[in-house]
Amino acid sequence: MFVTGERVRLRAMEPEDAEALWRWNHDPEVMRWMDAGYAQPLARVRAWLQERPRNGYDDVLFGIEAPADPGAGGAGGGRRLVGLVRLSGAAPEIGCADLDIYLGEKEYWGRGLATDAVRAACRYGFEAMRLHKVTLTVVVENEAALSVYRKVGFVEEGRLREVFRRDGRWLDKYTMGLLEGELK
Ligand SMILES: CC(C)(COP(=O)(O)OP(=O)(O)OC[C@H]1O[C@@H](n2cnc3c(N)ncnc32)[C@H](O)[C@@H]1OP(=O)(O)O)[C@@H](O)C(=O)NCCC(=O)NCCS
Repeated sequence: MFVTGERVRLRAMEPEDAEALWRWNHDPEVMRWMDAGYAQPLARVRAWLQERPRNGYDDVLFGIEAPADPGAGGAGGGRRLVGLVRLSGAAPEIGCADLDIYLGEKEYWGRGLATDAVRAACRYGFEAMRLHKVTLTVVVENEAALSVYRKVGFVEEGRLREVFRRDGRWLDKYTMGLLEGELK
């Protein structure tokens, strides 16, 4: 099953994706604003992809595929895995899920692909999962991510003080939310 955006395609992750995931998780620039925990060896990443339960309501992990040529506009041509988007923590009686996204292939940054992927994942959440709300947290200095979320319709709902440490500084995070019907 694929979820399609204008240029990206979302699909389930496979054990063969382990090398890309491992490489991204070891790239300090990619992981700069993320709560990554300890980077794992390649064999652990592969085992995690093999052993994790298949996508279910409470944890939907999509690989983001983009045209293999980063400059290409349309859906034709080859495709390449460039990042991940995840909706987690949903339960039907709660009606809410948390969203995470990152693009691990940096040459694909700044081309609108994350905006397209967040939009497609939220549409999937509202339409296929019947969610009422999607939430997330983001470090207040992560301007690129904030711009993506605002473009899609997320609004700041609160500020968590000093919950993220980077380079010896404690930073705040916004909590953001997007209600059903607010997706832009
Ligand atoms: C954040 C991230 C997902 C954005 O992906 P992307 O595909 O480059 O995003 P888009 O191209 O759709 O949009 C980026 C927007 O941020 C803006 N932007 C980029 N860098 C910026 C900066 N340093 N300051 C201000 N705005 C910035 C761009 O201009 C663009 O806005 P625009 O379309 O209005 O011009 C990607 O950079 C990434 O994966 N980063 C590392 C992981 C991460 O931070 N994930 C989010 C954790 S909450």
